Amino acid sequence: MTSSPGSGDLRTVRPLAEADIDVLQAIDTRTHGQAWSQRTFLDELDQANRVHIVAEATGEIVGHAAAWTNAVSGRITNVAVAPEHAGRGHATALLLELIDQLVNERQVANLQLEVRPANRRAQRMYRRFGFVPVGIERSFYDRSDERGSTDALVMAVADVCAEPWRQRLGDVHTSHRQVEKERNAGASA
Ligand SMILES: CC(C)(COP(=O)(O)OP(=O)(O)OC[C@H]1O[C@@H](n2cnc3c(N)ncnc32)[C@H](O)[C@@H]1OP(=O)(O)O)[C@@H](O)C(=O)NCCC(=O)NCCS
Repeated sequence: MTSSPGSGDLRTVRPLAEADIDVLQAIDTRTHGQAWSQRTFLDELDQANRVHIVAEATGEIVGHAAAWTNAVSGRITNVAVAPEHAGRGHATALLLELIDQLVNERQVANLQLEVRPANRRAQRMYRRFGFVPVGIERSFYDRSDERGSTDALVMAVADVCAEPWRQRLGDVHTSHRQVEKERNAGASA
């Protein structure tokens, strides 16, 4: 579990608990237009190869992230932050923690995720973390986006041991901490 000062609040990133599921369903419905069922969340919690974390600020759940792993890959399946809490570094904090768990605790060799081709904001975030586009997965999503597309852009980090990527992740960490420090100083000034 990690805590960091953000937006004048102490943010906590911690594992998902069963009692969080209703709130996460509401966040996903607002951000993705759909959410996993309670049953699916509970099944996820039962599986050892899943990682689910939530971010809390001022005692309120503001977002969450999830991934699954196999012997070599960590696949990020969701990152979502409630719209009223966007732009405060919560997704960055969630991704930093998720990647730390995948790479350092579960020791995966590479990372992958799918994102809608039209979702430029999320792609920008993933690029900051060193993910690069590696292909298109046709008909990946159940629901069409505003362009009528169900395709996904696949993004990946090919080798988490590569020094340039380690360096980039370190840079994301450093600049995230710096932004939070400045924001926090501004909030308390
Ligand atoms: C995409 C999404 C996850 C981003 O969440 P977020 O919490 O707003 O993201 P962050 O605050 O970490 O980063 C967003 C911006 O804030 C800036 N930022 C990062 N850390 C910051 C901090 N500590 N303080 C202030 N701003 C910060 C970033 O530079 C970034 O700027 P940009 O959007 O211009 O690139 C969120 O908008 C969302 O849930 N979207 C819908 C679901 C989705 O698309 N999920 C991803 C695909 S599965």
